[in-house]
Amino acid sequence: MNVQVTHAHLPQPVLPSCPVQKLLRGQKAIVTGASSGIGRAIALALGNAGADVVINYVAGEDKAEEACDQIRHGGSRAIALRADVADEAQVQAMFRQTIERFGTVDILVNNAGLQQDANFEDLSLAQWNKVIGVNLTGQFLCAREAVREFKRRGVQAEISCSAGKILCISSVHEVIPWAGHVNYAASKGGVMLMMKSIAQEVAPYRIRVNSICPGAIRTPINMQAWDTPAAYDELLKLIPYKRIGEPEEIGRAAVWLCSDYADYVHGVSLFVDGGMTLYPGFETGG
Ligand code: BGC
Repeated sequence: MNVQVTHAHLPQPVLPSCPVQKLLRGQKAIVTGASSGIGRAIALALGNAGADVVINYVAGEDKAEEACDQIRHGGSRAIALRADVADEAQVQAMFRQTIERFGTVDILVNNAGLQQDANFEDLSLAQWNKVIGVNLTGQFLCAREAVREFKRRGVQAEISCSAGKILCISSVHEVIPWAGHVNYAASKGGVMLMMKSIAQEVAPYRIRVNSICPGAIRTPINMQAWDTPAAYDELLKLIPYKRIGEPEEIGRAAVWLCSDYADYVHGVSLFVDGGMTLYPGFETGG
């Protein structure tokens, strides 16, 4: 494909001087899968940093509303919007509703994701399609709508140096193979090159695209890996830093990556994993 780039050369940006607590003041964010876990923590962190936030959810309206209340309590606006990210029409409706309510979208956090684990020979096509549908196709559909809106609006210098930010929540399993989780690892490996390819294509429009790759974070998705002392000890063998991560730590990384403090950070997978990707098996041998 021959991609036509018709942008004029944009000036060097004026880098932010705003207080670090309100790094995202005036920005509008959509966080997918934000009623629990990492998505919820990211949504609260963005709200705390001054962004107005759409809490996307597919189930658990009460939890989504509760997260909205917390954000409003901190002084930002928040709305809960139900949409299945794997469904094109629902994603498009969510973006339309966001733009109606908030005027635009400055930040998309592509967080919605799930696991459906099985030994490979037992992995059903339904489990494969479900995980690829939400974790990879869902990120594609949301990112495409975001890029359309960012290009339509362009840079508003008083809001941000960039025309928009996409933050994909990937996983250490975009590089660590994972037996028994082939569908999940394939989806995250796909997110890696999707993110980088989008980043390459939209950079001239001053749209920033990055990923966070969490390691083991204390959320419901991996509860069996940390909720008993024996399981936790096993887990620590995989983590050089010798502790599990907390969802708020991903929230903080997300605020920074979505802010103008990270304006020159583009196309990057930021591992927030306590060193899980450092081949911990080699700590004592090799
Ligand atoms: C998975 C978790 C797992 C972690 C580290 C994440 O992407 O969702 O279940 O604990 O990777 O293996």
